[in-house]
Amino acid sequence: MLIQRPSDILPSEITPRARFEDRRRFLRDAGLLFAAGALGGALPSAEAATNAAPKLGPLTASPFSTSEEKTPYKAVTTYNNYYEFGTDKSDPAENAGRLATRPWTVRVEGFAGKPRTFDIDELLRLAPLEERIYRLRCVEGWSMVIPWVGFPLASLLKQVEPLGSAKYVEFVTLYDPKVMSRLPVLDWPYAEGLRLDEAMHPLTLLAMGLYGEVLPNQNGAPIRLVVPWKYGFKSAKSIVTIRLTDKQPATAWNKAAKHEYGFYSNVNPQVDHPRWSQATERRIGEFRKRPTLMFNGYAEQVASLYQGMDLRANF
Ligand code: MTE
Repeated sequence: MLIQRPSDILPSEITPRARFEDRRRFLRDAGLLFAAGALGGALPSAEAATNAAPKLGPLTASPFSTSEEKTPYKAVTTYNNYYEFGTDKSDPAENAGRLATRPWTVRVEGFAGKPRTFDIDELLRLAPLEERIYRLRCVEGWSMVIPWVGFPLASLLKQVEPLGSAKYVEFVTLYDPKVMSRLPVLDWPYAEGLRLDEAMHPLTLLAMGLYGEVLPNQNGAPIRLVVPWKYGFKSAKSIVTIRLTDKQPATAWNKAAKHEYGFYSNVNPQVDHPRWSQATERRIGEFRKRPTLMFNGYAEQVASLYQGMDLRANF
């Protein structure tokens, strides 16, 4: 698939530059770059030499974490869906380095008593950062186990005081045609939505990192949603606006193919995608298929949200 690439950026420069800037920001936040002048200058050579993403912390462990074997970092960060950077699984890792994740703000607005714009570095300190090891099940039939770093979305929503009339939450992600695909694969910007009670559920996470490090761009830096009982596409990447609404929001995949991708998109082995079964999945790194679990194995925590609902009609 062809992706527009600005002619003035050499592909070889893209990833190291983004990593370098992230690292510099982290060092500044951690107070490791002291003098104001240091921010405009070169990093110490040891820092410049390493390509590892900055560490996040301290982290608290979550009782919601699975003890299943984690998918290796390399697979988590090179086998991605991020269509703004191409439709092949390897495209986001190759192309998303172009995305500048600082400065960045997230606007939280709509049916809220105190709508506000949050700076991304403020969000990093909004609530204690947790490590949450969650299963991620893609509608395409593969799954991973990922140690996310983040905090519950509810912590952010509470800050803006949702009104009684707020029933849903819409997530809008960045669309910058200068660095992202101009192809009409989806109706950009990518948008997703949750019911307010799903959004406030303690399992629903805003992730800013994985494997203890700052989120790589291809995984949705600087901030993405993680809803572990829903198919992966609900987990919007690189969020810029979170909007409380009174109506069910339109979502990117539902707009693209409404018979294939419903609003709820709960992992459900009993409801097949119109073109393929959802009964089994292949964990990345394994050969055999395993049965898919209702609500991706999180039924105990979330099934009550859907009591009395026809999950075939509300797929
Ligand atoms: N968010 C944006 N902005 N654009 C996308 O194309 N793809 C979704 C979701 N979030 C997507 C997105 C899909 S289809 C999946 S399966 C997950 O991100 C993949 O997340 P991962 O690449 O971190 O595994």
